[in-house]
Amino acid sequence: MFETLSREADDPLLALTPLFRADPNPAKVDLGVGVYRDELGRTPVFRAVKRAEAHLLETQETKAYVGPEGDRTFIEAFWTFVAGEGRHAAGVQTVGGTGALRLAAELLRRSGSSRIFLGTPTWSNHSAIFAAAGLSVVTYPSFDVAGQRLLAGEMISVVADKAQPGDAILLHASCHNPTGAVMDDATWAAVAEVALEKGLVPVIDSAYQGFGTGIESDAAPLRRLLDRVPEAIVAASASKSFGLYRERTGAVYATSASPETRDKLKSHLVTIGRGAYSMPPDHGAAVVRTILTDPELRTDWRTELDDARKRITSMRTILAKGLSRLSPALAAIATQQGMFSLLPIDETRIVELRHRRGIYMPLSGRINIAGLNSSQAPGVIEALCAHAALG
Ligand code: LMR
Repeated sequence: MFETLSREADDPLLALTPLFRADPNPAKVDLGVGVYRDELGRTPVFRAVKRAEAHLLETQETKAYVGPEGDRTFIEAFWTFVAGEGRHAAGVQTVGGTGALRLAAELLRRSGSSRIFLGTPTWSNHSAIFAAAGLSVVTYPSFDVAGQRLLAGEMISVVADKAQPGDAILLHASCHNPTGAVMDDATWAAVAEVALEKGLVPVIDSAYQGFGTGIESDAAPLRRLLDRVPEAIVAASASKSFGLYRERTGAVYATSASPETRDKLKSHLVTIGRGAYSMPPDHGAAVVRTILTDPELRTDWRTELDDARKRITSMRTILAKGLSRLSPALAAIATQQGMFSLLPIDETRIVELRHRRGIYMPLSGRINIAGLNSSQAPGVIEALCAHAALG
């Protein structure tokens, strides 16, 4: 039976990492998968994470199950990190942000939703996650790559025109992946109005909090949206904000004003997780819980996250200046936020840059700006100017 299977293609984004590792070029630059790197090219374990881990090693007395919903203190502290004080939600711990999105998708299906609207380009895995849960994915263009411009008006009118009550709409909380585009307050407000008018459920993917302009300011649009709409789902990841990538730490939260509905929502989220992987892994959540509930660790973690953001911002300024020689629109890289920007380069040039210059980026033209340091930046700008048919 198994012989009848055809081979699945490797994930094109994740496949870049082994290719990069195998490249003997000493000047190679990895602008692929979205992990933060410091000036020395390392993805460091946050100091606060190390200290939390030492504390856990010292004090943890058992590895017995925590329970299917995960660590309640983590779930609550992480919700306050994302949503601020005083907002109610049914939350469960998940296997990273992807696990949170998958549980969100399954919950939508169970609630009678059958479609989700995705603005494109979006994270390369979004479609697959929602489709795997049986939702139909409706895409609409939301970014002009050559002009580096969010298509805000078009986005609102397409959704207002096509969406039906019970449909869901995916939004990026901040630091849009892959474009870095910033959705202004007026567009967030317009999205909230469309969601209200049409009876849509916003699903907000929050994976880069702290990498835009700050922990609180990055979460502000999401918080205002939660105050406006009666029901929403937030899929939150600790991978980047706490540097816990491989620990697969996240949580999904569904909001409702009714405590009875929240209780039902939580029961469904727990049941979906139980049927998929039984219970979430503990370690990353225990680390986040330890940091968020200890004022000293929390301050140290915030300082390190702030430093990471400042480093990315300075790389953005350098890149924007260098690349705006090729296309004035690329000056926008300086004001875009988070790890990514999307360059208007065709695939042939991207492969050429990889083979000739050791610069690795996915064929979409997305670059992980957090993968760049100040010694590599001039060479990368020069190579992009030499090889890339931008504009
Ligand atoms: C990315 O977009 O590079 C990250 O979110 C890693 C991933 O899983 O794709």
